[in-house]
Amino acid sequence: MKRKTFLRSAAAAASIAAVAALTACGGGGDTGAAAGDGGGGDTISIGFSQVGAESGWRAANTKSIQDTLTAENGFELSFSDAQQKQENQIQAIRSYIAQGMDVIAFSPVVETGWDAVLQEAKNAGIPVILTDRAVDTEDDSLYESFIGSDFVLEGERAGQWVAENFDGQGLKMVELQGTTGSAPAIDRKEGFAKAVEGTDIELIDSQTGDFTRAGGKQVMEGFLNSHDQIDLVFAHNDDMGLGAIEAIEAAGLTPGEDIKIVTIDAVKDGMQALADGKINYIVECNPMLGEDLAEVAKKVVAGEEVEKRIVVEDAEFTQEQAAEALPTREY
Ligand code: AHR
Repeated sequence: MKRKTFLRSAAAAASIAAVAALTACGGGGDTGAAAGDGGGGDTISIGFSQVGAESGWRAANTKSIQDTLTAENGFELSFSDAQQKQENQIQAIRSYIAQGMDVIAFSPVVETGWDAVLQEAKNAGIPVILTDRAVDTEDDSLYESFIGSDFVLEGERAGQWVAENFDGQGLKMVELQGTTGSAPAIDRKEGFAKAVEGTDIELIDSQTGDFTRAGGKQVMEGFLNSHDQIDLVFAHNDDMGLGAIEAIEAAGLTPGEDIKIVTIDAVKDGMQALADGKINYIVECNPMLGEDLAEVAKKVVAGEEVEKRIVVEDAEFTQEQAAEALPTREY
């Protein structure tokens, strides 16, 4: 996977070595049958708390993790689906702590409210790796590494394309936001707004569709009922954009023509709609995080230095580029 890494920290390496020493001698709160061997032997036990199954992107991300953290690759994976609820993730993390996992990894549904449970993991000597979404904390010693895309940049790239193609036309835009309080919803909104600042594109409504197709459809139906003119939709993910397409078609309008649509993710269904002319532009969010997670988990358990932030690189697609990429598209 293409990626950028930065922010190595000696303090982080020292604390990782301490964790490795703890787990290697059977410490780290190792109380459960699912626990691995502390990294000294072949198998690393890893508990992964996934956000949910809200989107095509999430399905691809789950597959990447499950396909990589396999027994053949040296892992014993315990996987849980939080159904988009923070309390379920906290419960899962506590259970992984109680089982004495070698490593805990999770994709936080929202940004805030993690300090207490992360401190519990730290007290138990269990290293935590964040994937996909960030946490908002003053204390970055509570996790070892964060692997994922730059969501502000994704929003900015979507906004730049819109500004380059539509500024000067007085377009009225609606926004389908992701899950309230989640890193991608906060960051993509910020990046997009920054990129269209100073243009004549007017944001007339913005609501959350919770990153789901059903949510995107429902919110778009509401927008179409309450606004006489909508020229452009910015959806924080493909699934909400695909839901918006259903609402637009049901209203007798042509998506991609009467109402332009820009989304983020570039999963197969989104790319197909782009190639079909129903979406106008997509910025990719790469879901294939399994390999990086496996590499970082192995290093952490071995007491090696890891990068505090691993930024996954994303592409972007026009309608023509989507048609070209689709036949070999992995997700
Ligand atoms: O956190 C990544 C986002 O979560 C994806 O863009 C979206 O599809 C998913 O639900």
